Amino acid sequence: MGKYLDTHYQSIHEPEVFWAEEAKRIHWETPFSQVLDYSSPPFAKWFVGGKTSICYNALDRHLIERANQTALIAVSVETNTEQTYTYQELYTEVNRMAAILKSYGVSKGDRVLIYMPMVAQACFAMLAVLRLGAIHSVVFGGFASHSLAARIEDAQPKMIITAEAGMRGGKVVPYKPLLDEAIELSAYKPEHVLMVSRGLCAFETTPNRDIDYASERNKHLDSLVPCVWLDATDPSYILYTSGTTGKPKGVQRDTGGYAVALATSMDYIFCAKPGQTMFCTSDIGWVVGHGYIIYGPLIHGMATIMFEGTPLKPDAGIWWSLVEKYKVSTMFSSPTAIRVLKKQDPQFIAQRDLSSLEAFFLAGEPLDEPTAQWISSAIQKPIIDNYWQTETGWPILALQRGIEVMPNKFGSPGVPVFGYNMKLLDDVSGKELPAHAKGLLAIEGPLPPGCMQTVWGDDKRFVSTYWQGFEGRLVYSTFDWGIKDDDGYFFILGRTDDVINTAGHRLGTREIEESISSHNNVAEVAVVGIADELKGQVAIAFAIPKNNENIANLEKELMRIVDQQLGPVARPSRIYIVEALPKTRSGKIVRRALQAIAEHRDPGDISTMEDKNVLIQIQNVISQ
Ligand code: PRX
Repeated sequence: MGKYLDTHYQSIHEPEVFWAEEAKRIHWETPFSQVLDYSSPPFAKWFVGGKTSICYNALDRHLIERANQTALIAVSVETNTEQTYTYQELYTEVNRMAAILKSYGVSKGDRVLIYMPMVAQACFAMLAVLRLGAIHSVVFGGFASHSLAARIEDAQPKMIITAEAGMRGGKVVPYKPLLDEAIELSAYKPEHVLMVSRGLCAFETTPNRDIDYASERNKHLDSLVPCVWLDATDPSYILYTSGTTGKPKGVQRDTGGYAVALATSMDYIFCAKPGQTMFCTSDIGWVVGHGYIIYGPLIHGMATIMFEGTPLKPDAGIWWSLVEKYKVSTMFSSPTAIRVLKKQDPQFIAQRDLSSLEAFFLAGEPLDEPTAQWISSAIQKPIIDNYWQTETGWPILALQRGIEVMPNKFGSPGVPVFGYNMKLLDDVSGKELPAHAKGLLAIEGPLPPGCMQTVWGDDKRFVSTYWQGFEGRLVYSTFDWGIKDDDGYFFILGRTDDVINTAGHRLGTREIEESISSHNNVAEVAVVGIADELKGQVAIAFAIPKNNENIANLEKELMRIVDQQLGPVARPSRIYIVEALPKTRSGKIVRRALQAIAEHRDPGDISTMEDKNVLIQIQNVISQ
């Protein structure tokens, strides 16, 4: 492990030397004067004094060498369309989009919310926003009006870019009516909504507010909009993520550090080369989509595939046929998607030519050993599990084959990535734990480039949520339990908080509880995550009605409320109607016991529980 250990050691002990070298991977309009300013922990400022643009690095910079090379391949198996854009064509479209935004007053520092399906225009929009030095907030299409309204209120976008609908599994999924409802609900109103009309369904238009993308684009066919150079420390985007409270946090990312971190990861972790093709099956609404559908591959001069559809349509061979057709070298997906494919005929894979594929990356949730084994033998390529978070923006733990090829251990996402000073700590004393002891997975500050700068508009919340003081030093908590083996490989053992992970989607149980509680016949509710063979975890809820009349349809009504407010992504798989919830004598709900019973396990020590009969009642409801 010599080369890896040396590189990691240098990245931690001489971060200025390490990152100054890696920063050469991107274009700096003005060179930075200081690599790292950590004078005010835990706020790390990377590449101070430097000016750059993520959009310039993703597009303009490549025009000399690769103007005619493919940059973006937008595939929709829902609308049966495939559109390919060269770097020159993508540059032209992004300029047109930027010109539209500029003509409606979007400028440096303004927020633009993007609520879009996986269409090429979503990529144009993200790049155009950064071209203007504005800040995007992409909201996942599976979120509904209340989730969207909360994000609108917090980010206060000048403009929102949307489409009338997406499609999934052959069904039209409307976006525009949910957005209209969200704007209605929000105390803050955006000035304009830019509508990309796909011709999928009718929609209502609000005069003076809504503008039509196609006709605006026609006005700006030849427009060129210069990149606005930002300070390396200026924000590039906000991405909301769930935690223990009902209010999602806006993860704020910088500009220079993010571009450098992504560029470095493309080489050392993803081992990708300019000119190759990357296929990341995530969604632009998630952090993986930001980094490895859009910015990482484009900064690295690759072609990237945006995919609208499911892995099973028209059949389970679709992804592999794209690998063959576009000579994909680097693929990135989630364990749940692989578990879905595992149930299909292996011929769908075997009959395709996967010779271009160099490695397959998986992240977002635990990669269980049988799933890793299955995909490994099905495609006969290295399977690289990588562990990270919305907050970090790029991998924390992974094998770094671009530095040194090390043995894979299925079940482990590998070793600390360069720049991350990983610790396993006793969660009470903060003492560092030896190998084989379960502890809190923490990162000693400063966080490396590209990680979250702060919570949007709330520095205090950033510090109080993530940073814990132990013996005079500050450490960042991942809120994950972990364990380390003798070779320094880490294993992730689940979250320490009430965040659940369903099919790789991160959800806060509190948000779901608040949504269910808004029904007028719900007195109290608890949501927990339980193990699920396919999705890793699913949410289930236990609700106590205020009165027992008319409760025959209560479960369905509550599901509908969650669908309408938060979106189907947050819908619990079951909502049990119960008489009471297990509580401690001080009135705290004992979720651990609820989870154990629902997973048909022994609830363990219940000595602190006020009324032990409650568990028996709940057990009866579950087994009915
Ligand atoms: O619990 C960990 C789990 O997903 C959480 C972060 O989710 P999110 O913010 O959506 O970011 C996903 C970026 C890939 C983590 O706190 N998690 C993520 N990757 C893994 C994982 N758990 C186990 N193994 C992983 N590879």
